[in-house]
Formats: sequence, C-alpha cells, structure tokens
Amino acid sequence: MECRIGVISGDGIGPEIVAEARKVLDKIGTVYGHTFCYEEILMGGCSIDAVGEPLTDEAVAAAKASDAVLMGSIGGNTATSPWYQLPPEKRPEAGLLRLRKSLNLFANLRPACLYGELREACPLRDAVIGDGFDMVIVRELTGGLYFGARETKEVGGVMTATDTLVYNEEEIRRIAKRGFDIARKRRRKLTSVDKANVLDSSRLWRKIVDEVAAEYPEVSCEHMLVDNCAMQLVRDPGQFDVILTENMFGDILSDEASMVTGSIGMLSSASLNDTKFGLYEPSGGSAPDIAGKGVANPIATILSAAMMLRYSFDLDREADAVEEAVKQVLKDGYRTIDIMPQSGMAQENDVTQVGTKEMGDLICQRIL
Ligand code: IPM
Ligand code: MG
Repeated sequence: MECRIGVISGDGIGPEIVAEARKVLDKIGTVYGHTFCYEEILMGGCSIDAVGEPLTDEAVAAAKASDAVLMGSIGGNTATSPWYQLPPEKRPEAGLLRLRKSLNLFANLRPACLYGELREACPLRDAVIGDGFDMVIVRELTGGLYFGARETKEVGGVMTATDTLVYNEEEIRRIAKRGFDIARKRRRKLTSVDKANVLDSSRLWRKIVDEVAAEYPEVSCEHMLVDNCAMQLVRDPGQFDVILTENMFGDILSDEASMVTGSIGMLSSASLNDTKFGLYEPSGGSAPDIAGKGVANPIATILSAAMMLRYSFDLDREADAVEEAVKQVLKDGYRTIDIMPQSGMAQENDVTQVGTKEMGDLICQRIL
C-alpha cells in the first residue's frame, strides 16, 4: 500500500517526537511492504516565523491532499514567547483550530489507559487504581465555545468579553453516533458528560444523546455532570469506557484523564471527519522547557501513528505491531524521564532511562 502522509512537525518537542514516529512507520513499511511518503506542512509558531501566519492556505491544501496528517505539537511558552504578543487569530493555536475546522475534524478520540508496567508512574493510590483502567474520550472538536462568536469591547465604560457556546442538533448527533459506534466495539458503556443543570446547550446535548442511544440498545448510556466527572476520574477511573463530551469539557477532561495514566507523554489522539482522513497527534503539548534536549517521550506520537494505520489506512495488523512493540519496550524496562518511577519506588532499579531517539530505536527493533 502507498500512503501520502502530511507531516506537521510544529514547535517545541514536535520535530523530535515526529522524527521517531516516522522512523517507526518506515520500519512498518519495510516489514509489511508499504510505502509511506511524507510531505512537510508548516503550522504553528514555526509557520509564523517563516511566513508570518500560523497556517497558510497552501498548508491547508497540502493537508487536504494527503491521506492523513501526522502532527507533533504547536505553540510555545505563553508567558515568554513573542508569538503570544500577536493578535489571537495570528497565534500558533489559531492555526490548529483553523485546520480542524477546514478539514471538518469533528471527532477527537483520546484513549487513556494505564499500562501495567507504569503503575508506579500513576499518581493515584493502588486501591483506587484497582485492576487499572482503559477509557477513550470522544470529544466534539469543531463546535462549542471554541468556534462561537467572541468579542471584547467596552459596554457602558466597562471592558467586557463575550464567548458564545453554540451547538445544533446535527453537530451533537454526528459526534454521539461516533461515540456509540466506538462503545459498541469496546465494553459497551458510554458516559455522556454535560452541564445540563445550567446550560441550554447541554440540555439539547442530553436530549439528542438519548435519541441516538435508542438506536444502540446494546450500549448502556449514562449522563454525568462535568464537575462530577472531573471528580470521578480520580475517584474511580475504572468505571469509564467511552466518555462522550463537547469541545471545552473534552479539552479539560482529557488532560485530567491523561494525568491519571501517569504521563501525558503516553497518550495518542486522532481527529477524524466523515471520511478515512484523520489528523493524528499526541495529546500532550509542545513542552518548550524540554525542547531540543532529546529527552521527550515519543511514545504518544508513535501510538498516534498506530491510530493512523488503523483508522485511516485500515492496517490493523500493522497498528497492533506498533502497539505491541511499545508494550514490549516498557516490559523490557526502558523509560523516558517522564515515566521513570519516583525515587524510592520498588521498580526503580529494574528500569533504564533512555532518550527520545533511543526510545524510537528500541520500539523499531521490536517490530519484526
Ligand atoms: C488540545 C489543545 C488545544 C485545544 C489547544 C492547543 C488549542 O489543548 O488539543 O487539547 O484546546 O484543543
Ligand atoms: Mg488540551
């Protein structure tokens, strides 16, 4: 199979972690007989530096022309980077939001599971971890507060800022269907998260989710308020299978879910539309503090590449091979710094700390 992959290396640790994911894809190509061609696409701070805007029309066209896009991370330190002196629509994140919207990537899948080998990195107590957890957050990605009208202006002499949260029933229905489709192939439990005790948009969300739920009798559906969900994620994460939620709540809950797994450096994500196309990126950010040091964890990006193989190219066997190789590397005791057991922990002497490149190499070696 021949696949054209757009590559957005981006800012901070982006180029380092993307390089390792490409290495792994190339190894898959060699072992399983596929050709992956890459086209670099500029987005984020590096695009601002090169051409004065975070995402050009050419970059959008290049992304559209590819079969899938692999992305590292974009953005910098919001307190110190000159990118954040620019007007909001010229900043790095505006590029990512525009790309999501232009490609209609309404379904963002963020799996969060605890690897047995990383129990020591999980900040929760052993009794809370129990048998571990394995959930996927299905986040609506092209609506809600992120894309509603906003403005800042003086009202009666007082500076006033407004953001609007808009959802229509069609936007809710299509993401709900996606959530139930995913739940059907997993443990068949879906938790829809909203703030229906306060927000109209959430009340509509709940009504539509109930309508869609009726089409999936084999999936059990429950509703949970977002504040309660934030609490339940640290109280009993094992209760969740699929969490379905709107854009802003999904942004917040997915960071929380990733933290309870021990490291955001482990978590992949896929942003999908109605076609086979997808944008695949690690859930974590650009981590400017460790950029260029060769210590960033490339596993989230490598697992995102595995999601690309699975969802965009239907290469399940190859995706399994990548995921197995990651598990094997962890079993063999290799860790990047972010997933090292804390000092004093039992495992401390059985593991070896490695850098970004070595981790990529070790994973490649386990794809046979
Ligand atoms: C994410 C990020 C983005 C978001 C930012 C960079 C705009 O936090 O993908 O979760 O809020 O969606
Ligand atoms: Mg986020």
